[in-house]
Amino acid sequence: MKTITEMKRMKTEGEKIVMMTAYDFPTAVFAEKSDVDILLVGDSLGMVVLGYPSTVYVTADDMVHHGKAVRRGAKDTFLVVDLPFGTFRGSQDRILSEAIRVFQETGADALKVEGADEVLNTIQLLTSTGIPVVAHLGLLPQSASVSGGYKVQGKTADAARKLLDDAELCEQAGACMIVVECIPHQLTKQLTKAVNIPIIGIGAGAAADGQVLVFHDLVKYGEHRLPKFAESFSDAGKVIQEGISAYTNAVRTGIFPDMRHQFTMKEEELVNLYG
Ligand code: KIV
Ligand code: NA
Repeated sequence: MKTITEMKRMKTEGEKIVMMTAYDFPTAVFAEKSDVDILLVGDSLGMVVLGYPSTVYVTADDMVHHGKAVRRGAKDTFLVVDLPFGTFRGSQDRILSEAIRVFQETGADALKVEGADEVLNTIQLLTSTGIPVVAHLGLLPQSASVSGGYKVQGKTADAARKLLDDAELCEQAGACMIVVECIPHQLTKQLTKAVNIPIIGIGAGAAADGQVLVFHDLVKYGEHRLPKFAESFSDAGKVIQEGISAYTNAVRTGIFPDMRHQFTMKEEELVNLYG
């Protein structure tokens, strides 16, 4: 497993860090076989797996349920689990107990929280408790309904300055890594220079220290529209659709099952059965 120290070294030496989301056991097994550096059980779970319209419906129990499955499939890959909407808003005591629960029950190596400002306290609290924290800046899906939806962040000088300040504050609060979502590539370049912790980008261009993609986008699994910044590297959806259609057809036409799929009892038992 790559440690945080190892990933900081990768940043220093310009070796790209590869991160992807996973939500279940088989995906985790595949990812570990492909030597992915970091697995993220993202709260994108809500949309791509559970069919909700946004991430705000995802609960800590959902994260635990899926986080455990991913851990079982990838015991030797750095595992990050999102703290979902609702868990890290509230009293510091409640935040801490929910975070400890998700951390312990999933066996994650770090938890991810969205935002800066009041979230900086949470980053500091969790870190000082011994829970490594990945920060998440730029587009923040959990608060997109307040901040004006899913669009590119940090495009003006002021907004970019705020993002740079936030990144430094996240690092000071103890964050071990920062995910940045949907920001101009020039800003990503500045961000990677501004902090010593790895910057992992999604929709943030090539300058980031690493990249993260949602599993369902990267293998094209699902009916959803691919965001501009994503790329599909295979077409799982097509293969799955073909498989299900072929199965449907085979059952209806009597092609499946055939001799190879059935079990046989001895003739003498049949005779006994009929008396
Ligand atoms: O939930 C998620 O998948 C994420 C990534 C987009 C970084 O937070
Ligand atoms: Na997320």
